[in-house]
Amino acid sequence: MSTPRHFLTLMDLSAGELRALIHRAIALKAQRKAGDDQHSLAGKILAMIFTKASTRTRVSFEAGITQLGGNALFLSGADTQLGRGEPIEDSARVISSMVDLVMIRTFAHRDVERFAEQSAVPVINGLTDDYHPCQLLADMQTFFEVRGDISGHKVCWLGDGNNVCHSYMNAARLLDFELVVACPEGYDPSPALLEACGNHVTIERDPAVAVKQAHLLVTDVWASMGQEAEQSERIGPLAPYQLNQALLDIAAPDALYMHCLPAHRDEEITAELMDAPDTVIWQEAENRLHAQKALMELLLSA
Ligand code: CP
Ligand code: NVA
Repeated sequence: MSTPRHFLTLMDLSAGELRALIHRAIALKAQRKAGDDQHSLAGKILAMIFTKASTRTRVSFEAGITQLGGNALFLSGADTQLGRGEPIEDSARVISSMVDLVMIRTFAHRDVERFAEQSAVPVINGLTDDYHPCQLLADMQTFFEVRGDISGHKVCWLGDGNNVCHSYMNAARLLDFELVVACPEGYDPSPALLEACGNHVTIERDPAVAVKQAHLLVTDVWASMGQEAEQSERIGPLAPYQLNQALLDIAAPDALYMHCLPAHRDEEITAELMDAPDTVIWQEAENRLHAQKALMELLLSA
């Protein structure tokens, strides 16, 4: 049996593969809008394991594999034996003997790695405490659709140096763009990852400096899943990093802005920007569907 191809971080793709995936996602989107049949994954079964909540990830994976002719199984951590302590490795051997592909959303990134190490089929990271690579497929697709290749552009991340920020850092080095992370002290992304990203990623404490000439501003919630108890103490330090019209006015004249959603309106992003008629945030959310269809095709073609 050949070793399965996993997608645990963006670095599991080469730059060429990531660009090809984005272009395939754009083509799949056009096909779907035209009403063409898509059956490239006919008969394939995707198991989706969730120990954290989700709207976009669940709906996009389930709709995506169904549109491609396959089926999805939703497995909530609490309702499987995983939730009662069956070892991850044992669960991986059993589940992967019955399905063609597994998507996992959970807390510890190491848990997804442990599952993948014993899995006979490709494993996709649907978000861990450390990374959210599927989100970046959609975000990059959106930038490519609206502005073309992101190489050489400047992106500014505003707020918490969290899992989505980490995946932006990987995207910066893969797709060769500049990423400035604007965050307060104590909210920095991983120092080891920062070092690995070399001169593609820098940290800037002053948000007004960070967004200057940026072509894309990005933010995310100030308390991620699992950090709910810290919500109120995080507001003070992170408030100056709110994505709002004032910061957008300092960025490049045609700057886009994104948010992975769900958003806390008027916390990390203003309701005004969420509801702006020209925002690409809803396009970004829809692109989860198309980008992950391209991802599942890639992993199952290996
Ligand atoms: N952006 C994202 O992953 O959304 P969900 O938590 O709704 O899946
Ligand atoms: N950083 C957020 C992203 C949600 C899609 C979280 O982990 O909760």
